[in-house]
Amino acid sequence: MDVVELLMVDHLSIRLLVRCGLCAREVNEFSAFHDFIVGCHARIEDEVVFPILKEHFRDADDEFVKLVEWIGNDHKLLDTLANNVIGYGSSEEREIYEDRLNLYFKLLMEHNLREEKQIFPRWLKELPGEVRVKATEQARKIIMEFGLRKYTEITGLSEEAFKLI
Ligand SMILES: [Fe+2]
Ligand SMILES: [Fe+2]
Repeated sequence: MDVVELLMVDHLSIRLLVRCGLCAREVNEFSAFHDFIVGCHARIEDEVVFPILKEHFRDADDEFVKLVEWIGNDHKLLDTLANNVIGYGSSEEREIYEDRLNLYFKLLMEHNLREEKQIFPRWLKELPGEVRVKATEQARKIIMEFGLRKYTEITGLSEEAFKLI
């Protein structure tokens, strides 16, 4: 499976968790969830997919390079917001906590959709196969570093399925 297909599987898992209301409503669960976003999912985008895309389109499509940069900046915003959520979650301010939590998930869903609409199609259609294969190996390493067990717990993908795809 290609790295971007793997990222879209993550997006699907996240979307289902949020839609079904199964997502991390308590601060500890939320903290573990965000740890997956920042330490695994967004890390693959920031360290593997986005730099390769920016390099590939550097001279050919400046607008697209800026778009990748701009969408990538959402990760910092999400991280700031997550720290805010965790801060309120550890205090008595339950209402503000819920508010910020909903905002975080709203931003994350919008961000993921933007990646699927505006970034991922170009990766899948325009990047050479060998570049994608190498990037997928790097992504798998990041997942193993993050911890396959934690990864499968959050995404719902079994370890067996992960090894097959
Ligand atoms: Fe992202
Ligand atoms: Fe993503």
